[in-house]
Amino acid sequence: MQWTAAELLNQTETRLQSAGVDSPRLDAELLLASALQTDRLRVLIEPRRVVSPDVAHKIQELTERRADREPMSQILGRREFWSLDFKVNRTVLTPRPETEILVEHFLSLAKERKTEPLNILDLGTGSGILAIVAALELKTCRATAVDRSLEALETARENACAHGVQDRIEFVRSDWFERVTPAPQFDFILCNPPYIPEDYMERLAPDVKVFEPDSALNGGADGLDCFRRIVPEAGARLKPGGYLLLEMWRDQAAALGEIFLRAGGWSVPETIKDYAGLDRVAVARRLLERG
Ligand SMILES: C[S@@+](CC[C@H](N)C(=O)[O-])C[C@H]1O[C@@H](n2cnc3c(N)ncnc32)[C@H](O)[C@@H]1O
Repeated sequence: MQWTAAELLNQTETRLQSAGVDSPRLDAELLLASALQTDRLRVLIEPRRVVSPDVAHKIQELTERRADREPMSQILGRREFWSLDFKVNRTVLTPRPETEILVEHFLSLAKERKTEPLNILDLGTGSGILAIVAALELKTCRATAVDRSLEALETARENACAHGVQDRIEFVRSDWFERVTPAPQFDFILCNPPYIPEDYMERLAPDVKVFEPDSALNGGADGLDCFRRIVPEAGARLKPGGYLLLEMWRDQAAALGEIFLRAGGWSVPETIKDYAGLDRVAVARRLLERG
């Protein structure tokens, strides 16, 4: 049996709608484009295109994966971040648009800082987005990308190669700072740690809960476990006047402020809100040592 693109698009949309997928039309268009190895626009402007039985079968396979709530990013194997293309898979967190807020603030601070070259630590690099965007935007900077997951580091390295910045990024497998020398070597530490409170994990959408790594999401009982480990140790790795930028969740700013206060040696962190008005990024500066 032969189908046209328009017929397959409608069938796919109907199947995804009945499975309760949020954006069935858009996802259907993207799945068709992927199976046809073309772009979404072409799917739309060639509705009468006849699709071979093999490709129709491939579309049905992809549709069932999506109906089972596998995220589109994992089915397609890629996600856009900072208008760049990144490979993603089940071993890494799919980059989120909110993380661009951290990048925007980092870049504006980096442009004010006069030291050259800047040294940046991307802690919990996942797909590598923070180190890679830093290396692309700041042509002379050097980055260290740390993750505990070997598979994530491998994906980050592949992304760095795809963007041609692998020579300026060192990849280190480490449990946070364990294998990062405690010398004041970095101008910036960027970190989007796991910060979802344990009891909220069950409430996450199946696309996230089932398919994204728990180790990238679960922040312990109150979501703050990683911050309690990272903040007290970060100061020893930052040059005086260097910055720690942490992504956080919803209303964690006050508790995070306490963690900085208790650790000592930090400015009062500034909280940047996201477009929904929720706490999103904490920016703290390592205080200059008194001479
Ligand atoms: C929320 S994801 C962030 C990934 C990426 N930076 C981003 O913004 O999309 C957190 C990352 O931290 C890593 N991670 C979790 N615990 C860690 C630990 N103890 N030491 C190092 N990395 C850790 C996870 O493997 C995961 O890749």
